[in-house]
Amino acid sequence: MERPLIIALDVENKKEAINLLEGLPNESLALKVGMELFYKEGPGIIEAIKERGHWIFLDLKLHDIPNTVKRAMKQLAELGVDLVNVHVAGGHAMMTAAREGLEAGKPAGVASPLLIGVTQLTSTDETMLHHELLIEKPLQTVVESYAKLAQSAGLNGVVCSAQEVPLIHEICGKGFLTVTPGIRQVQDDLGDQVRVVTPEKARTLGSWGIVVGRSITAAKDPFAAYQAIQKAWEGKQ
Ligand code: C5P
Repeated sequence: MERPLIIALDVENKKEAINLLEGLPNESLALKVGMELFYKEGPGIIEAIKERGHWIFLDLKLHDIPNTVKRAMKQLAELGVDLVNVHVAGGHAMMTAAREGLEAGKPAGVASPLLIGVTQLTSTDETMLHHELLIEKPLQTVVESYAKLAQSAGLNGVVCSAQEVPLIHEICGKGFLTVTPGIRQVQDDLGDQVRVVTPEKARTLGSWGIVVGRSITAAKDPFAAYQAIQKAWEGKQ
């Protein structure tokens, strides 16, 4: 999938997910399934979405000892998802193990799922970094260093703010994937997001993929919202 507009399926259950999909264009979409939906429905939700021909980012942010992550990633790869992620804080050995697990589990004849890392959650600020996690470096230095570590462990990219994309590209090169949430059109509610950018801006900053939730899923007309955002993301408006 080239430069996907990834719709975050942040809903409670399969029924709601399918309802939402039925209100969207009848084409192959890029969808993000997170912990809420996956923990409720299990692998069946992935099968149901794949049957409809969609591309899937399974956003479970694994973080455990290398052997456990390797075995868990093997299971996720067997589901045939397209993109998965880990916390970079799990370290180099854990990330390498994640990659090995994906290779071991991928169905025959298809590419192994892409693997990206979470550098720091957007809910972590500098105060928390210093006073709770006891990491003394500035947040930006930590993000840069974690991105380099992720790349050295063979990850394909990171989740980051679109505003961080130019810096990540400078450090890791343009081929390193950047998946960026926090996307809003100018007229949209910010909700709990603070540092937001428009789809057009994400494009010009060089995001590889954008993650859009409520601007589509909570819109009065999700179909129209999806089309408008897709157009803006493709630079067609
Ligand atoms: O509704 P909204 O567009 O804010 O949803 C953004 C999605 O991206 C949510 O699923 C959220 O959990 C996810 N996300 C995020 N910030 C991160 C990582 C993931 O908003 N740093």
